[in-house]
Amino acid sequence: MSVVYLNGEYLHRDEARVSVNDRGFVFADGIYEVTPAYSGRLFRFEHHLARLRKGLAAIGIDYGAGAIEDVKHGLLARNGLDDVPVAYVYVQVTRGVAPRSHAFPDPPVPPTVYGFANQYHRASMDVWEQGTKAITTGDQRWARADIKAIALLPNVLAQQAAVDAGVSNTIFVRDGIALEGSHNNMFAVFGGVLATAPKSNYILHGVTRDFVIELAGELGIPVEERAIPLDELYRADEVFFTGTTTEVRPAVEVDGKTIGDGKVGPVARQLFERFLAVTGS
Ligand code: PDD
Repeated sequence: MSVVYLNGEYLHRDEARVSVNDRGFVFADGIYEVTPAYSGRLFRFEHHLARLRKGLAAIGIDYGAGAIEDVKHGLLARNGLDDVPVAYVYVQVTRGVAPRSHAFPDPPVPPTVYGFANQYHRASMDVWEQGTKAITTGDQRWARADIKAIALLPNVLAQQAAVDAGVSNTIFVRDGIALEGSHNNMFAVFGGVLATAPKSNYILHGVTRDFVIELAGELGIPVEERAIPLDELYRADEVFFTGTTTEVRPAVEVDGKTIGDGKVGPVARQLFERFLAVTGS
């Protein structure tokens, strides 16, 4: 969409300018957040804000983020996204503009705050029912994958590997343990029990992940937050991904191996139906 937010102003995206000395540009020194909006209503905004604040604190950027809710609403309204079924709003905060030097600018400079909003086009139910395919890759990320840093090169390379392989997603594997997707969390079903990697520094603590665990609780589906070895993942009855830009999306093949009977399973379906009902979308 065409109106973006930059440092207190709403501008046409072609008019927005960021300095080449911005530490986001030079060092990928910043934090981002993507929040979904259903018919203009931000979903679980407080959770996204809390994670943004935690990330900013973890990397020492002093920004209260109090204006972020208004910015997100402002972007939805100005881009005509208040009435669309699903949109998402991106905000990133970098450490600001200063001559290149690794240590933080001293004295500190104002952070750069940038945001945009887009419509989300959900796959049709027919396409959803076909499931997706995934591959795996060694996890090359730093050991703070819980921080939603804008430094996403390993995620970019992982997702490009998926594109090159003609599949939809890549699963990060560390020490034989399947952790999460390149841009989403991962769940597997074993004998009716839902499993997902526990919250640690090796995965992003997804807001959608928490939501889906809650939905599973409501539906009486048992959940185990535990390590999933890759060889066990191949033997899962179901595998699916969750995330703001993924919602709930099953995979029926991982590394060329068929998952379960190769069809989308009942747990993913139940959870997605519930997801649609609760979000009113
Ligand atoms: N990605 N894991 C990773 C590595 C992610 O990048 C994301 C989100 C998630 C899911 O988090 P949530 O449910 O809070 O969206 C898990 C965003 C959407 C992105 O990079 O665009």
